[in-house]
Amino acid sequence: MQHRLAFLGCGHMGSVIARGLLKVPKSSTPLCSHLTISVSSDASARRLETKFAEYKDKVNILYKKNVQAANDADVVLLCFPPSQVQNVLSEANMAKAVQDKLVISILAGVSRKRIQRALNCSIPEEAMTSQGSQGQAQAQAQAHVVRAMPSLGAQAGDSATLVVNEELPLPRHLQELTENIFKHIGLCHATPPHLFEPLTALAAVSHALMSVAIDAIIDSSVAGGIPRDHALALASISFRGYSTLLARGDEPAELKKSLLIAKGFTPHAIVRLEKGAVRSAISDTVLDTLAYMGSMSANKGANGP
Ligand SMILES: NC(=O)c1ccc[n+]([C@@H]2O[C@H](COP(=O)([O-])OP(=O)(O)OC[C@H]3O[C@@H](n4cnc5c(N)ncnc54)[C@H](OP(=O)(O)O)[C@@H]3O)[C@@H](O)[C@H]2O)c1
Repeated sequence: MQHRLAFLGCGHMGSVIARGLLKVPKSSTPLCSHLTISVSSDASARRLETKFAEYKDKVNILYKKNVQAANDADVVLLCFPPSQVQNVLSEANMAKAVQDKLVISILAGVSRKRIQRALNCSIPEEAMTSQGSQGQAQAQAQAHVVRAMPSLGAQAGDSATLVVNEELPLPRHLQELTENIFKHIGLCHATPPHLFEPLTALAAVSHALMSVAIDAIIDSSVAGGIPRDHALALASISFRGYSTLLARGDEPAELKKSLLIAKGFTPHAIVRLEKGAVRSAISDTVLDTLAYMGSMSANKGANGP
């Protein structure tokens, strides 16, 4: 089945997702029949028109027209900065525009409750107060809100997008539709709601570790006489090979065992890393980042996803 999608905000990550959805082989039926994008500035809208020029029959690019974009779609993706959540979702008529629709948020650190609250603010006060508590319940924004978190690899079609499952009462077909959207930019990793933020933090630590490790490997390789381009090529291929084995299900302990050849370079390097307290630095970083994530959620009142 084909869908009309709207992107509210379409910068770095929104563009990657949009391109993934638009760039499908001619032989398959695209999931997205039409895409409306709304951004906040004319300059961005013009940039996106150039970026998506080859899809101009399918893509409509607007600015400062979030409600119109949402009205024009049956699936709405929130891809603006987290700081804009109240501004965008509490605009008059936004709750009506997303009524009964699938709303997918990729906003980091913004809970589903907060999105729901912001949407409720867009409902006219009369509708909230006119009919007593029953009327209020009916006047609640009735969108199907779900959170997803794409990862860095999305740019290369290799995202590991976290998608909350068990997001009751999200109907099964909308859960599947959410996963199908993100499969256009890589894999989906379904997660129960309570693990969504911790896994987001874990992905952040993994990216941080990779960035520091690659930088250190290249600098010290150059210092040791290996040209930079060779060092970068070999380090990245080695990381990729290792992660491919992990992704296919190889056990880390078994992989390590296979590296332990008597008097080999790898055991020598492992011992040196252990002496440098790398393992405890990584463990501390994981625990600190999880604690940081917990304190951010508590400060924002974003308990749970
Ligand atoms: N970047 C990542 O790797 C990544 C990964 C996972 C999740 N995310 C989440 O994705 C979201 C976007 O991140 P990004 O890196 O793509 O940011 P970005 O490149 O700064 O893009 C933000 C987009 O939002 C638009 N925007 C800003 N205010 C708006 C408003 N009031 N109404 C409509 N559109 C508005 C901007 O339009 P103008 O240019 O016209 O201002 C721009 O198109 C964030 O919530 C972030 O947490 C990002």
